[in-house]
Amino acid sequence: MNLKYLSSKYRNSVINRETSGDVPVDYEDLINLSIGDPDINTPQLIIDRAYKDACAGHTKYTASRGYPELRAEICNFYKKRYGMDVQDSEVFVSTAGSVAMYITMQAILDAGDEVIIIEPYFFPYPDQVKMACGVPVFVKTSHENNFQIDFTNLEAAVTDKTKAIIINTPNNPTGICYTTETLSQLADFAKKYDLIVVADDIYTSFDYTGNKFMPICSFPGMKERTITINSFSKNFIMTGFRVGNIIAPDYIINVIQTINENVVYTAPSISQRAAYHGLLHFEEFEDDIVKIFRERVEYAHKRLSAIPWVDVLPVSGSFYIFPSIEKTGLTSSQFSKKLFDECHVRVIPGRAFGESGEYHIRISCTVGIPQLEEAFDRMEKMTF
Ligand SMILES: Cc1ncc(COP(=O)(O)O)c(C=O)c1O
Repeated sequence: MNLKYLSSKYRNSVINRETSGDVPVDYEDLINLSIGDPDINTPQLIIDRAYKDACAGHTKYTASRGYPELRAEICNFYKKRYGMDVQDSEVFVSTAGSVAMYITMQAILDAGDEVIIIEPYFFPYPDQVKMACGVPVFVKTSHENNFQIDFTNLEAAVTDKTKAIIINTPNNPTGICYTTETLSQLADFAKKYDLIVVADDIYTSFDYTGNKFMPICSFPGMKERTITINSFSKNFIMTGFRVGNIIAPDYIINVIQTINENVVYTAPSISQRAAYHGLLHFEEFEDDIVKIFRERVEYAHKRLSAIPWVDVLPVSGSFYIFPSIEKTGLTSSQFSKKLFDECHVRVIPGRAFGESGEYHIRISCTVGIPQLEEAFDRMEKMTF
């Protein structure tokens, strides 16, 4: 190994495979509850139509902001679902949510700009901020407060360098949704301090609160200061297609487009076709997908609630559940290791999602109920 071949900023980095799910499976009876990738396949209609389009020649570069017909469907979707007018110039088709967040940070940050990240957070956010020379600033939330944003903590985190706040609701890892009051308070806060809100709206279908999910960009006065990141990965069960989109003011989209042209040029054409057909037919399969994951998280909640050393909040969104294991006296890493060693069940220690995640574990309900049942049967026998 010749470290000088590496950029100096990466020479000391240790890749944390524990949080990436990219680890060897070393027990035959392992139940892996650490993966954020749905086990069910992409709706067949999407695959069939994308295949047909590929055969018909959609295998080339596309317009660099994405196929115009896909952009038009994204605008239609916002109109139909949220009653919001989104112009074509405010839409950018991205290579999934991950690249969308990366290029967004590149587009908005100068060296030293601070970005507030609400804990517990999707773990790439801090590095995505740092790769754009920004400084991540963490704001804690708590189990006791249902992981809603704590505005006293938020206020304390703002400095004259604060440029943006990243939020994610429905949330990975906590499985909670921000309430309408939280979002409207956040909107007021962003306006008061003239901040951009970067909304990672990736699990929008999976809102079990009974209130229709409303994106923060639709709140009064927020469209001009929100960059919304959407992905087809979860709502459409299309993780491997790597396609998403960004909704933002047109001058920000212009810069995002330029950066993206220098990184990947366009999102994959076949995936864009898949996304287009997915949007056209979304209502035919959305409920069926959501039902599957809702049943699983409700089952997981029922089982976890019956374990005396667990405290668990009802899940109101996404397909994760984030119980506290504090009563065991173990840290999230110690607990996860014991669970793995003794029960052959893999979860992600909550600490991987920031300090507020300590003494919690993230369970992904991306396996069927029989496997969840077996995992909880094993887990409830643990002693401390
Ligand atoms: C909160 C959140 N944001 C973004 C992503 C990235 O999704 P993708 O790059 O597949 O669109 C994920 C994936 O798990 C996620 O949970």
